[in-house]
Parts: sequence; C-alpha cells; structure tokens
Amino acid sequence: MSLYNLLNRRRMVREYEDRPLERDKLERVLAAALRGPSAGNSQGVSLVVVQTLENRQAIAALAGEPDWLARGYPAWLSLAPVHLILCAEPQVYRDRYAQPDKDTAEKNWPVPYWHVDAGCMLMILLLAALEEGLAAGFQGIHNLPGLADLLHIPAEVEPIGLLTLGYSQSSRKGHSANRPARAQRVHLERW
Ligand SMILES: Cc1cc2nc3c(=O)[nH]c(=O)nc-3n(C[C@H](O)[C@H](O)[C@H](O)COP(=O)(O)O)c2cc1C
Repeated sequence: MSLYNLLNRRRMVREYEDRPLERDKLERVLAAALRGPSAGNSQGVSLVVVQTLENRQAIAALAGEPDWLARGYPAWLSLAPVHLILCAEPQVYRDRYAQPDKDTAEKNWPVPYWHVDAGCMLMILLLAALEEGLAAGFQGIHNLPGLADLLHIPAEVEPIGLLTLGYSQSSRKGHSANRPARAQRVHLERW
C-alpha cells in the first residue's frame, strides 16, 4: 500500500480479536522499527516485546483495565496479542553527544532527542503494522504506573509507552477523521 494510503487509514485501535499474531509479521515489524532516523546516530531507543498472557494481563491490570471493563468498556491491553514497550536511554545520547564531532550546544538538550527518536520509531511501528494488515494502538506511560518494575526495565532506561499490535475488531473511525484545518497547523512564511 502506498504511504499516503497507509497514513489515511492509520488510527489508534483499542479493540482486538483474540487471535495470535504470526511470527513472520512481527519479525518484519520489529525489523522496520530499527530503521528509523536517530539523533547523532545514537540508536538509543529499544523495545520490550511482551507476548505471554500472564504479562499482558499483568500490564492490563496496571493500566486499570478491570475498572474499564466494569464501566462497560471493551478489553484493550489484555486482548491485544503483542505489547511493544518503547524505551529510551538518555545516557546513550549524552555519551554520543559528548564525542568530539558534536558541539556543546546539544548538551543542554533543549529538545531531548531520545524522545524524538522514540516518536520516529513509534510512527514506523504504526505504519508497519498497517502494511502487515494489522492494527496498532498506543498508550502513554502516564497510564502505566509500575510497568518498569514489572518488566525489570533498568532505572537508566526511560519507558515511553506501550504499543499494542494485533487484528482489529473495531469498526470505529477514531479521531483520524477529525483533523484541524491545515491553516491552523501549517504556517506559511511566518507563524
Ligand atoms: C504520545 C501519545 C500518547 C498517547 N497516549 C494514549 C493513552 O494513554 N491512551 C489512549 O487511549 N490513547 C493514547 N494515545 C492515542 C491518541 O489518543 C490518538 O492518537 C489520538 O486521539 C488521535 O487518534 P488517531 O491516532 O486514531 O488518529 C496517545 C498518542 C500519542 C501520540
């Protein structure tokens, strides 16, 4: 599918079929994720791949899924067959930018490049999922207290959020249909 078609179809999916994901599809998505751009070629963004029911249910519990179910919402995290935890390692970037070929300006990190790189990887994952006929959804780390402890993520690694992968059983159009007018977001020559 062309990139523009993928972008038009992309939306966050929070309802999945209770169906496993083929290994080859997951492998291709993971390979694509590692092809993103990276500040200074630091390559300091990683993924934790979670597939066991036990871990998925534990993550769903952390995210408060039982409360959501009790309020009549459908299950999201526990049903999605694959969770990918997006993680960044700020120190990898600090070390890279301490190298002689980098000037000192970046050392104040006006923009934390590990977050930019993580965003790039997230976008690749969302598009690669669609290319494989899959759906994906993202939940920010603010909704996942205790995730680092559960998955033994070291203190120096910053979890960014969780991407679910699987087969969609949602017919909702999502927010993608509702985009701001271009003039609100694209400024010509000056803001
Ligand atoms: C950084 C980031 C954090 C997000 N966090 C959550 C979240 O915690 N829970 C959730 O349901 N959706 C989350 N989303 C998904 C957004 O709600 C969604 O992208 C937005 O509503 C637009 O919908 P669309 O992606 O389907 O076009 C997040 C998206 C991003 C990019």
